[in-house]
Amino acid sequence: MNIQGFGALITGGGSGLGEATARMLAARGAKVAILDMNLDKAEAVAKSIGGDAFAVKANVASGPEVEAAVDQAVAKFGGLHIAVNCAGVGSAGRTVNRDGSPFNLDAFGLTIQINLVGTFNVCRIAASRMVKNTPNADGERGVMVNTASVGAFDGQIGQVAYAASKGGVVSMTLPMARDLAVNGIRVCTIAPGLFGTPLMLLAPKEMQDKLISNIPFPHRFGKSDEFAALTCHIVENAMLNGETIRLDGALRMPPK
Ligand SMILES: NC(=O)c1ccc[n+]([C@@H]2O[C@H](COP(=O)([O-])OP(=O)(O)OC[C@H]3O[C@@H](n4cnc5c(N)ncnc54)[C@H](O)[C@@H]3O)[C@@H](O)[C@H]2O)c1
Repeated sequence: MNIQGFGALITGGGSGLGEATARMLAARGAKVAILDMNLDKAEAVAKSIGGDAFAVKANVASGPEVEAAVDQAVAKFGGLHIAVNCAGVGSAGRTVNRDGSPFNLDAFGLTIQINLVGTFNVCRIAASRMVKNTPNADGERGVMVNTASVGAFDGQIGQVAYAASKGGVVSMTLPMARDLAVNGIRVCTIAPGLFGTPLMLLAPKEMQDKLISNIPFPHRFGKSDEFAALTCHIVENAMLNGETIRLDGALRMPPK
């Protein structure tokens, strides 16, 4: 599907991978809505992009908030054709803590709620608006790109909640693509390895070096623009559907 002239919603667009994606989609001619819990950051990104770009505050896990944000994008852009899910949170904790206490169930639930339920919430609402789009010559009405993590496949010690949430994002990719095939809406997921987003670059140098030592080639963190470029390619390549693509420089995370 073309990027030029179409409406795109990017969750987590106020920072990191989502910000880079919003900027690249806008540079390629999309009209971008930047959804984030952090309105200040989202507004700063929208302002620097300019044009039709706008920021909207919403929690991806809230039905009413996402519905209002999506409808704002549809009204402003005359339709929504692209939805990119980048909002997400990390979490750390073992199944049984060192002191013998069990993993806090509320903390586990919160990670699932944001990373998995939030992603599905945005997809279900965005798709319900995309079905109204006029299909292009190939029958396409829209594209959704979700963000998992290599942690979905090789979750490390302490990543049980994060891995479960991202594993869910991977697992729903194919059934969602199958559900929406009849509507001409594609769904793909990107599973990034280690990317040099703001939080990562704040980590001490020794920690960064240790993480990079596991990445065969290129022997460095991924760049947010490399994630954004793959997102743009997924939007443009109609044969990519129902697939999760690792973007990780051949990284396979060790147990710790
Ligand atoms: N950076 C990496 O190395 C890496 C690796 C694998 C996967 N990922 C995944 O990529 C995605 C983006 O990561 P990033 O490094 O750009 O993170 P980031 O922290 O830089 O950006 C995430 C954005 O999501 C927003 N957000 C968080 N919870 C939200 C919610 N409930 N509703 C709306 N917005 C919310 C935050 O305010 C923030 O602006 C995440 O899902 C993360 O798990 C990142």
